[in-house]
Amino acid sequence: MTADAKQLRIPPLDPNFFILDEDRANLERFQKMSERHPVNILTTGTQGCGKSTLVRQFAHIYQRPMATFQVGLLLESGQLFGQQRLKGGETYYQEFLFPKAIQTPGCVVHLEEINRSETPHALNELFSVLSEDRSIWIDELGFVEVAPQVMFFATMNEGDEFTGTEALDAALKDRFYRIHLEYLPHDVEKEVLVRKTGLDPSQTDDVLRIVNGIRNNEQLGIGVSIRHSLMIAELVALGASLREALVYSLQISKDTLESLLLAVQVETGETETTADRYILYLPYGASG
Ligand SMILES: Nc1ncnc2c1ncn2[C@@H]1O[C@H](COP(=O)(O)OP(=O)(O)O)[C@@H](O)[C@H]1O
Ligand SMILES: [Mg+2]
Repeated sequence: MTADAKQLRIPPLDPNFFILDEDRANLERFQKMSERHPVNILTTGTQGCGKSTLVRQFAHIYQRPMATFQVGLLLESGQLFGQQRLKGGETYYQEFLFPKAIQTPGCVVHLEEINRSETPHALNELFSVLSEDRSIWIDELGFVEVAPQVMFFATMNEGDEFTGTEALDAALKDRFYRIHLEYLPHDVEKEVLVRKTGLDPSQTDDVLRIVNGIRNNEQLGIGVSIRHSLMIAELVALGASLREALVYSLQISKDTLESLLLAVQVETGETETTADRYILYLPYGASG
C-alpha cells in the first residue's frame, strides 16, 4: 500500500462514542444532502470534546475514505497542494495529499483548526474549494476539481477566533452547516469512562464528581476535557489514587490540587497525602 492509500483509508470505528440523537439524525441528513450537492460542516466545541472523533466516526459509518489536514499550521498559499522539490539538479513539483483527497469521490476532508491559519492567503484557496464552484486553478496541476460527494468537515476549538481577514471569515463561515459539541452529561460520560477504561462504576462517579466540580468552578479557570477525564480514569483503573491521577493528568501541582479539592468541596474519601519519598528509579524487584 502506498503512503497515500494509507492516509486515505476509511477510519476505524470507535464502538464507545456517544452523540446526541439529534446530531446523528442531522448527520444522516447531511449525508443524504451530499448526494445532491456539496456540503460543508463546521464542528465546534471545547478542546477534547470529541470533534475529531465525530468526523472519523462519520467517515466510518458511511464508509468514506478520510484525510486530515492541520490548517492551523499553514503558512502560505499553495502549501496544501504541493511543493517545488530538487532532485539531481532538476526541480520538479511534488503533489501533496490534499489535491488527491479532494479529487477522491466521497472523501471526508477534515480541516483541523480552520480558524487558526497563520495567513488569510492560505485560507483563500480553501475558500475556492469550499465555495459553489468547487474548483481551483493551480499552475502546476491545472484545474483541480472537487470530486462528487466529497465532504469538508472543519473543526474549531471554542473560544478561538478566526484570524483571517474579516470579510473572508464571514464568507467562510457562511458556507458551513454547524454542529456544536458540549460536555457530556454525567451519566453518559460515566458510561464512556467505564467502557473505555474498565474503571468500576463507583470509582468513575468519584472521578466525575471532582471533574465536574472543577468544570463548574469558574474561578479556577481549569478546563477538563473528556480527553482529560479519560486520562484520569485510566490512571485510577491502573491503581493510581484520585489525587495522583489528577496531578498527572491536569498538570497542576499538588499544592494547587489540595486547595482545588477544598475549593470544589469534594469528599474524595482518601486519607491525607503521603509524604514525598525519593527512591532510585530501577526496575521493580531490583535491589538498589
Ligand atoms: N462523546 C464522546 N464519547 C466517547 N468518547 C469521547 C467523546 N468525546 C470525546 N471522547 C474521547 O475523548 C478524546 C478526545 O476526543 P477528540 O475527538 O480528539 O476531541 P477534539 O477533537 O474535540 O479535541 C478521544 O479519546 C475521544 O474518543
Ligand atoms: Mg481534534
